[in-house]
Amino acid sequence: MTEAARQKLIFALDVDSFAEAEHWVKLLHAKVGLFKVGKQLFTRCGPEVVHMIRGEGGEVFLDLKYHDIPNTVAMASVEAMRLGARICNVHALGGREMMEAAVAQVRTEVAATGATPPLLLAVTILTSSTDVTLREIGIDRPISEMVPRLAKLARDAGMGGVVASPQEIALIRAACGPDFAIVTPGVRPAEASVDDQKRIMTPGAAIAAGADYLVIGRPIARAADPVAAAEAIVAEMAGALASR
Ligand code: C5P
Repeated sequence: MTEAARQKLIFALDVDSFAEAEHWVKLLHAKVGLFKVGKQLFTRCGPEVVHMIRGEGGEVFLDLKYHDIPNTVAMASVEAMRLGARICNVHALGGREMMEAAVAQVRTEVAATGATPPLLLAVTILTSSTDVTLREIGIDRPISEMVPRLAKLARDAGMGGVVASPQEIALIRAACGPDFAIVTPGVRPAEASVDDQKRIMTPGAAIAAGADYLVIGRPIARAADPVAAAEAIVAEMAGALASR
């Protein structure tokens, strides 16, 4: 179970320099399954940072949350695959046609090149949003209704899963079934600092609730011994996987 658990742990590479990213990748590539590269690091370092991670034997979740016209998102998704990203994502609020275009273009590229298809994820409603945020942009439905609705739309469009808070796992599982990946940030080991995360779950509880991947940053990066922290998280995940 330890190897299965390791592959489900995504380390959030929330740093702003290539050297720092390289430090973490060299330290953790054998301890975690993937490294999440977000907008800050990618804007700073570009594709080079993805090449570096893959060169060190790591896998990449390219967290750029595309949201644009269908053709643009489809072509960007293909470029993420060409870069070698194992996971990439779009905003479900971009709509069915946009998500279908991404899925179709990635499939066309896979058929033509034999490349490994990435897991295409949709972001439903950002966890920084509230019902007020939605009302201000003209969405009168509550978040509790929008999240499963957008998750279902993503699944129907052929997306492979969603990014969601741990509290949303049960709702999404019920709406989308077992073969739909759920990736959750907002995970904190019992002894770790909560930081700015509001609705948290422990790694074991998130896996027990049905999460497929956990995104964890500061509880590892700010630990006195980051390698030991990653190992402890994987062990906790493995325990929960064994009894799932
Ligand atoms: O350090 P921490 O474990 O809080 O990092 C979590 C990562 O997941 C960060 O990269 C953060 O931006 C991301 N994230 C999140 N909550 C969301 C979506 C993404 O914390 N709803």
